[in-house]
Amino acid sequence: MDLPDDLHNMAFVITGATSGIGLGAIAALAKAGALVIGVGRSEANIQQAAGLIRQENPGARLHFFLADLSAQNHVRTLGFQIQKYLQAETSGQLHALINNAGTVSNRFTVTEDGYELQFAVNHLAAFHLTHLLLPQLAAVPESRVVTVSSNSHRGMRMCWRDVMCRRNYNTLLAYKQSKLANVLFTYEFNRRFGKNGILAIAADPGLVNTGIGLKGTYGLVRWIWQRRSQGGADPGVIGKEVAWLAAAPEVNTRESAYRKHGVPVQPSRYARNESEARRLWELSESLCRIRFGG
Ligand SMILES: NC(=O)c1ccc[n+]([C@@H]2O[C@H](COP(=O)([O-])OP(=O)(O)OC[C@H]3O[C@@H](n4cnc5c(N)ncnc54)[C@H](OP(=O)(O)O)[C@@H]3O)[C@@H](O)[C@H]2O)c1
Repeated sequence: MDLPDDLHNMAFVITGATSGIGLGAIAALAKAGALVIGVGRSEANIQQAAGLIRQENPGARLHFFLADLSAQNHVRTLGFQIQKYLQAETSGQLHALINNAGTVSNRFTVTEDGYELQFAVNHLAAFHLTHLLLPQLAAVPESRVVTVSSNSHRGMRMCWRDVMCRRNYNTLLAYKQSKLANVLFTYEFNRRFGKNGILAIAADPGLVNTGIGLKGTYGLVRWIWQRRSQGGADPGVIGKEVAWLAAAPEVNTRESAYRKHGVPVQPSRYARNESEARRLWELSESLCRIRFGG
């Protein structure tokens, strides 16, 4: 699963690029010579990540944008900033968007738009940013939208009566629903835009040793993640797998648009349900106040 040696003519956007899997992915793509555009939510974390990438690869073609992806207006501003940047640097071409940013929160948290935090960051931000960057993706044949999902989507259904989990909030169920939304989005995207030559892929990274379960958590959830994550894979290795899905010409969606460690496997039957995916798509459009078309 080696990255192509020379990605000099390619541009990639990676959200959540300041730590864990996203940092691994952006570092791998920068090392292969690509123009990489990272998104981070804190200036300090951006400086630290950029420092690490440049330490390993002083010639990295790297640019970071700051955005809190829980807020729809930040996503919108970010999209416009990236569009402008790409126009100047690549004549408006984007080879892949990697929707990787993710969060776990064991407090029921409402964003400034009134949405549940995990659903907003893990699904709606990816949905909205993909919409904003669609023209730049469509300008490149065989461009990609890679969304980092999870095996935890299995056994879940969308809770249509209470998508924001306002009643009886449960950290894990809200997280699992958001990761299911990533897969439903990916499959529906391919149904709508596959014909335009844009490939959507849901990446299942397996268990990875990152700090995701330590950032917005306390008590038992935090305690469990502290122990469980130690058995996880190296985020640098997994980041490289995600980068490969975004960059390698041999990746396609013929067998499956869901890939575990790069290998096509079937997601849950529910995640492939067309009417459920359409329903989520329409709800997401209305929550983001956008219209995709397609
Ligand atoms: N770790 C696993 O075992 C595992 C398994 C399956 C799927 N995943 C998925 O993998 C993806 C990456 O997670 P990770 O494990 O690498 O965790 P991580 O190291 O915590 O990375 C998450 C990234 O998202 C960023 N982020 C979080 N909230 C944000 C917000 N509101 N606005 C902008 N950026 C935000 C974080 O920024 P900071 O650096 O500032 O915190 C970080 O860069 C997630 O989508 C996760 O669901 C992980």
